[in-house]
Amino acid sequence: MTCSILRLALSSWLPLAACLAAPAAMAAMDTDAAQALLKKSDCLKCHAVDKKKDGPSFKETAGKYKGKADAEQKLTAHVTTSPKVKIDGKEEEHPALKTKDKAEVQNIVQYILSR
Ligand code: HEC
Repeated sequence: MTCSILRLALSSWLPLAACLAAPAAMAAMDTDAAQALLKKSDCLKCHAVDKKKDGPSFKETAGKYKGKADAEQKLTAHVTTSPKVKIDGKEEEHPALKTKDKAEVQNIVQYILSR
């Protein structure tokens, strides 16, 4: 998907600059598909883009991994292998994405890292 199509798909609260500033590697990201899959996988129960819920906001996670070479790899493992995490003080398996499609998983990871 090109940057201009992506820009049309973005809702107005997202600054257009986010798209213009995105590195070339992010150009293929599909925001609508990412949001739909996050919803389908119940991720939004515990996460929001810019608000802390039971889990960190995606902005916080993007900040934590900013500039880290292994960011995609770490997050891919996090959202596909159900690692044990503390959820609301209790140790539980972190939910995995409801997809086995590598491209869909990568799209989510890029979506989160570009918040
Ligand atoms: C029941 C609540 C809950 C649900 C549902 C949930 N998460 Fe999380 N998530 C958490 C918590 C709590 C953490 C923090 C874990 C930690 O830091 O140890 C977290 C951390 C994360 C992180 C940051 C990992 C890191 O290494 O910093 C990402 C990314 C993430 N979740 C994505 C997702 C995605 C994608 C989904 C949907 C498949 C999802 N989460 C569903 C509670 C949840």
